[in-house]
Amino acid sequence: MCGIVGYIGTENNAKEVIIEGLKRLEYRGYDSAGIALCINGKIETRKHVGEISNLEKIIGDVYFESTTGIGHTRWATHGAPSDLNAHPHSNSDNTITVVHNGIIENYVELREWLREDYGVKFKSDTDTEVIAHLIGIYYDGDLYQAVCRAVEQMRGAYAIGVIAAAEPDKMVAVRKDAPLVAGIGEGCNFIASDIPALLKYVRRIFLIENNETVVLTKDDIKIYDEHQKLVRRDVFHVTWDADAAEKGGYDHFMMKEIHEQPKGLDETLTRRLDEDGDINLDGISMTKEDIEGFNKVYIVACGTAYHAGLVGKAAIEKLAKIPVEVDIASEFRYRDPFVDDKTLFIAISQSGETLDTLAALREAKKKGARILSVVNVVGSSVARESDDVFYTWAGPEIAVASTKAYTTQLMCMYLIALYMGRTKGVIDKEYYSRFIEELRGIPDKLQTVLNREADIEQIARKYCRKEQVFFIGRGVDSAVSYEGSLKLKEISYINSFAIAAGELKHGTIALIEEGTLVFALATQDFLFEKMLSNIKEIQARGANIVGIAKEGNREIEQESSEVIYLPECMDEVTPLLAVVPLQIFAYYVAKFRACNIDKPKNLAKSVTVE
Ligand code: F6R
Repeated sequence: MCGIVGYIGTENNAKEVIIEGLKRLEYRGYDSAGIALCINGKIETRKHVGEISNLEKIIGDVYFESTTGIGHTRWATHGAPSDLNAHPHSNSDNTITVVHNGIIENYVELREWLREDYGVKFKSDTDTEVIAHLIGIYYDGDLYQAVCRAVEQMRGAYAIGVIAAAEPDKMVAVRKDAPLVAGIGEGCNFIASDIPALLKYVRRIFLIENNETVVLTKDDIKIYDEHQKLVRRDVFHVTWDADAAEKGGYDHFMMKEIHEQPKGLDETLTRRLDEDGDINLDGISMTKEDIEGFNKVYIVACGTAYHAGLVGKAAIEKLAKIPVEVDIASEFRYRDPFVDDKTLFIAISQSGETLDTLAALREAKKKGARILSVVNVVGSSVARESDDVFYTWAGPEIAVASTKAYTTQLMCMYLIALYMGRTKGVIDKEYYSRFIEELRGIPDKLQTVLNREADIEQIARKYCRKEQVFFIGRGVDSAVSYEGSLKLKEISYINSFAIAAGELKHGTIALIEEGTLVFALATQDFLFEKMLSNIKEIQARGANIVGIAKEGNREIEQESSEVIYLPECMDEVTPLLAVVPLQIFAYYVAKFRACNIDKPKNLAKSVTVE
């Protein structure tokens, strides 16, 4: 997804700082990169399709030095990936230059107006170029005022960074529904779409809110609201380490993050548990009356986070006896759903910046729902716009394929369900305490599964050339099947499909033939016999079956080519363990097929467009 970095300082090091910042955002996915610097009263821009290394090759020249500049990594939305469409974009006489994340919804209208009334000739197909021209026509020596006038005409969700040739000692940035921060340096200041871009240089950050404009010089950062009133903002101190975002000895971030799951889960759990095992919701104001007043829970998310929501539904319905709907954010927001002031709306998002999830949250808020979010990135948009936040504490997740965010999201959902159930009096103390003990044991049990990595690697080696894989399960195993299937397809590009096992015979079994690979998840004791029957049905048609079951359920061996065993645990919490072999399998299949594991094609880490 697009990334913005801007720098204004004293030394001629803008190029180095911006390129370094852009590299820190590479993990988000992008198709082109560019940089613009104020040099001797002019703006010099270089941009190139492909990786940042391509850009570096064309800016090798020594004269490309400046104290002020902006840079961008683009993920195409308007106009194909190309040198011309890459950011930054400038106005006709190259005096105003802009980088932009997000979408300008009325750009066609603005483009026509600029063409007809001002004779503007556009060089690219982007909505961003419209912004540069718009600011250009209002510019009369005061960049801030020109940006304010332009913004009045722009509709959409965006963050922009702007420089002017005539004011090389100033930079202006605006946030509207797309992430933006300002970094506070010494004798220099920064803007960025994401904090990791700046961590090499600063830890003191201003989180910019919606409809705010920031004016930066090397010594000063001023934040204005939409009425041009100066805003006071507390400094946000970033405590997490940039090194946490490095690979730490693994070949890929994805594998590192898979192995970080025991630690992440332990962190998520222990931050919410008192010494006596009671769940504390510090910072979350949810009283008994509130909980008893909810007649429905709506869980809304996208992709992997949505799959975590499916497990959350099972947990909340079972433990708190409140009906739960789970919806995909891009569907929810256009459905006019039944949400009111008795609804608890739970948004799940690793990044906290997924536009559809954010829009769904706002929709629910408008209808009066109470908003609780389960988020990994502190200070992200979803977190800031929620009534309460339950952080996942997974640490930065860099690989595009989500792993540790998913399992920590599950942990949060169990804790929320347990808290609600216990507060409402649906579950007794004994069951509650047993569940908590079970959760405490999960990091060690997950480590046991991780210790089986070599066996799973062998299974991946054996099947890595299959072109089609199925995942089946019942109950929460079907939710985990969806996640296993998504992991495999997104990083290995194999066509995979997940289905509730009982549904197979209603159509999909037609696709099962000699040699079809099927992962059969059979972790639920009370559904084990039923799953064995489903497995027999497909085995009879010649499928290769990889079973996933608890250690005690050895009968599955007779029907499977391979079995991956999980440590014994309560049925309710098996998703925390069962997903792990599927993550490792997907990883090794992608590795054997020489895929770009951390940055799969066509995907981005943070989806800030519709
Ligand atoms: C898949 C994956 C995506 C995200 C989805 C939502 O591995 O990571 O499906 O889960 O794009 O992202 P967040 O959780 O940031 O809202």
